Amino acid sequence: MKKVRKAVIPAAGRGLRFLPATKAQPKEMLPIVDKPAIQYIIEETLDSGIEDILIITGQNKCSIENHFDKSVELEIVLKEQGKLELLAEVQRIGQLADLYYVRQKEPLGLGHAVYCARQFIGNEPFAVLLGDDLVRGTTPCLKQLLDLYEKVQSTVIAVMEVPPEHVNRYGILDAVEESQGVYRVKDLVEKPPLESAPSRLAIMGRYIIEPRIFPILAETGPGAGGEIQLTDALRQLCREQAIYGLAFQGKRYDVGDKLGYLQATVEFALDRLDLAGGFREYLRSVCQELFKG
Ligand code: UTP
Repeated sequence: MKKVRKAVIPAAGRGLRFLPATKAQPKEMLPIVDKPAIQYIIEETLDSGIEDILIITGQNKCSIENHFDKSVELEIVLKEQGKLELLAEVQRIGQLADLYYVRQKEPLGLGHAVYCARQFIGNEPFAVLLGDDLVRGTTPCLKQLLDLYEKVQSTVIAVMEVPPEHVNRYGILDAVEESQGVYRVKDLVEKPPLESAPSRLAIMGRYIIEPRIFPILAETGPGAGGEIQLTDALRQLCREQAIYGLAFQGKRYDVGDKLGYLQATVEFALDRLDLAGGFREYLRSVCQELFKG
């Protein structure tokens, strides 16, 4: 029985959709309420039972390492000022997980970012969580994938049905539903035009992948947008091994997109007991103003 022990979080993209905010800071560090997006992803990984985490970083990404490091000076200040709750939170972040970092020297695409993890992963199945995809729900999205992996012992991808006008933004599955929400993948295609798309089942930012992907990625050339696409390599993997799609439970937010970021901010804030009361009142007044008459 193969077990998934390691996770990779690619966070080396340019974040062009979020300029100018991402000119000097990574989009993965943009706060959703009061935590950077990538912290939610690391917490999801830990809540799913995986503790060895590799973050793929690049230029302008030092703040990610700093965020998860021990912050001696800040801890001294918080202690001196008696801000013990904040001190505990800051210390907790510094001890969250065994984090490792590899630098992707150039953002050549998601497939290339995953390829940078080959030495850390070795010859075992591993999880991939995109640094700008958040999922809100009761069971962590990665845990749902791991549960399916335990049964099928083969690559599993998180999928979601998207509206027709969004099909050309995602990797799309050609697949047959084998049981409720579980699809056996026949083929995958990156960002197809709606007319030729095999379905509206889009690949979301969570995967469990077999290590056979690495030699395939080594041979994968640039695809859509001139980038080395993970979807292209998965397409080849699909010809050799079974791949399953899982329609996971939960709501997904692309926080690398301005609208997705705003949606996540509002909904995560509403989940927060310390904020929800005042924030709900504020939203009510905004809605009354917006929809009056
Ligand atoms: P995206 O395509 O959403 O990231 O990649 P991007 O290229 O930064 O986006 P835009 O279009 O320019 O705004 C999904 C994830 O893969 C990482 C990104 O950091 C993001 O978390 N990624 C992407 C890499 O690590 N390396 C790359 O070369 C590309």
